Amino acid sequence: MSRKVIIAGNWKMNKTAAEGKALVEALKPLVADVCPECAEIVVCPPFTTLAAVVEAARGSNIKVGAQNVHWAESGAFTGEISAAMLKEAGAEFVILGHSERRQYFGETDETVNKRLKAALAAGLKPIVCIGELLEEREGGRTEEVLARQLEGGLAGLTGEEMSRVVIAYEPVWAIGTGKTATPEMAELTHNFIRCTLNDLFGREIGEGVRIQYGGSMKPENAKELVAQRNIDGGLIGGAALKAESFSALIHNAIAK
Ligand code: PGA
Repeated sequence: MSRKVIIAGNWKMNKTAAEGKALVEALKPLVADVCPECAEIVVCPPFTTLAAVVEAARGSNIKVGAQNVHWAESGAFTGEISAAMLKEAGAEFVILGHSERRQYFGETDETVNKRLKAALAAGLKPIVCIGELLEEREGGRTEEVLARQLEGGLAGLTGEEMSRVVIAYEPVWAIGTGKTATPEMAELTHNFIRCTLNDLFGREIGEGVRIQYGGSMKPENAKELVAQRNIDGGLIGGAALKAESFSALIHNAIAK
């Protein structure tokens, strides 16, 4: 089964609208040669930067996503953003359950699941993040943690809905630390995720789901990581904040 590579930049709380626009303008010519059949390129700016980035990316091969969404359609949820609001702003993708949301903002598998269902209902393409903490890996609990995150986060989804979801495996100990899982270590974990998806949704769906790696992916290690059988791209933090490094990473990831 061939799965199209997807490289997404998670800008986190970086880039004002003006800075985001400038980044996309700089990125466009650098990635113009990446054919849509070879890879999907996504950038995920903060909410207030979305509209400017959508405008700057229009007509290019760069797609735009948000970093979170609330599950309700509207109402008294101060500080939150609905799926319809993201769609109106031009977002196509949305990151859900990032480990920083889980760690600092009380996100759970249950709330990820609610957000996921709202995103799918609105026609957004979700990128669902999972990953184990350092002590969980060292305690031999990685698979147990990932299985729980997958079962809880994806609960109640139909196969058709699952086929619209991207999974991002991000070992928490590798995020922003410069420590990357070795390609072999990451592949073992991606293979476990693939098997779990096959168990939950059947092989026909499971084999088609794209699983990104995230956590200190950079131009130097992207090729080896994405060359692994079950690694279908990356979710990139730090290296996505400069046009040159993000472009180099994308080109290396898809180099044969
Ligand atoms: P990093 O972040 O590439 O800076 O490690 C990845 C992420 O948190 O999505």
